[in-house]
Amino acid sequence: MSNKEEKGYLSAKESRRISKENKKVTSVLEKKYRRKNESEEEYLTFMEDTNNAVEVRDLHTYFFTDMGIVKSVDGVSFDVPIGKTVGIVGESGCGKSVTSLSIMQLLQRPQGQIVSGEIRLNLGDKAYDIARINAAGAQKLRGKYMSMIFQEPMTSLNPVFRIGKQVDEVIALHNSEMTKEDVKKRTIELLELVGIANSEGVYKMFPHELSGGMRQRIMIAIALACSPKLIIADEPTTALDVTIQAQILDILRTLKDKINSSIMLITHDLGVIAEMADYVVVMYSGRIVEQGTAEEIFASPAHPYTIGLMESKPVVGKRVDKLYSIPGKVPNPVNMPNYCYFKDRCEMCVEKCDGDYPEFISLSPTHKVRCYRFYDQKEGK
Ligand SMILES: Nc1ncnc2c1ncn2[C@@H]1O[C@H](COP(=O)(O)OP(=O)(O)OP(=O)(O)O)[C@@H](O)[C@H]1O
Ligand code: SF4
Ligand SMILES: [Mg+2]
Repeated sequence: MSNKEEKGYLSAKESRRISKENKKVTSVLEKKYRRKNESEEEYLTFMEDTNNAVEVRDLHTYFFTDMGIVKSVDGVSFDVPIGKTVGIVGESGCGKSVTSLSIMQLLQRPQGQIVSGEIRLNLGDKAYDIARINAAGAQKLRGKYMSMIFQEPMTSLNPVFRIGKQVDEVIALHNSEMTKEDVKKRTIELLELVGIANSEGVYKMFPHELSGGMRQRIMIAIALACSPKLIIADEPTTALDVTIQAQILDILRTLKDKINSSIMLITHDLGVIAEMADYVVVMYSGRIVEQGTAEEIFASPAHPYTIGLMESKPVVGKRVDKLYSIPGKVPNPVNMPNYCYFKDRCEMCVEKCDGDYPEFISLSPTHKVRCYRFYDQKEGK
């Protein structure tokens, strides 16, 4: 590899070659995704455990860019049990949003593609593999069985339509039997449910007339309009101040219990995870490095990255001169090393760390970590 390529520079010729190759791969995947007249058989599947709302297995989602292939999600597996909240944490760019956009089939196509793996969604009487579904099939699932709340509600709401119309639309889309009056009644009910006092007034307002907190409530109302089995909340409160944040989380938690759905909660904020999550998944550079129950992750974090995350969190009553920050930066996503991705930043390295990327080691039936520091435990078994 030339010096320039190592630094991430590519010649125009090389870039064109990559682009041509990418097109070959993505056009096959696109054709498959856009196929018409599919039969349900093509994506019917079985849940490993019917108590799970979602089972993600060995998911690989790549972006085919002109600089090369970015393996944004590289072999990720986890469960979201029914009625539970799973928190996903990790540094910016580690693949949290791409994981959720894969589940929703909302990837930026054609560059973004699920290249392999399974995403099993439990519909009650049957299960679908979202990784194999086509565009029309995914459209039917979104809103009704799974929905997503984004970080910035202003960009998710359409600025030119009134709030009421936007909520009505989602309800009407999935409930063709409902009359116009019934739809409006349901919208008003939903607005009240998410804590909007002047529901009739807000029904007639435009998004810009509402505060950030109010808009996020509307997004929650839209997400919950059809009582979905899975709610994905991607940094739902990052743009809000702390008191509104607490209210929004409270609404989310209460409504989740009311409709017995599951939440996949993505956040940088470990405080939010501690308060909301039953299980925690820690991601680093497109892979899961540790997963367990919230108690396990908070009481005995095992991966040096998770330990670093915990240390960089401010603690009330503990005076420090400087908050801890994990040294170094994440590797170049186009050119990942073949050893542990955290090695260049790790302060706990052992001799074995020069080896291949570590496999998962079970620390308990629910707690798993990918780190050589625990290999002795495995070998001792
Ligand atoms: N449309 C895209 N085109 C190319 N690469 C992308 C695209 N979207 C995401 N990626 C890459 O995929 C990787 C994972 O991105 P992702 O958005 O999932 O990160 P994240 O964990 O959600 O980060 P953040 O906390 O900043 O939201 C990053 O390396 C990013 O550059
Ligand atoms: S495998 Fe080694 S380098 Fe990687 S996180 Fe564990 S101790 Fe650090
Ligand atoms: Mg993100």
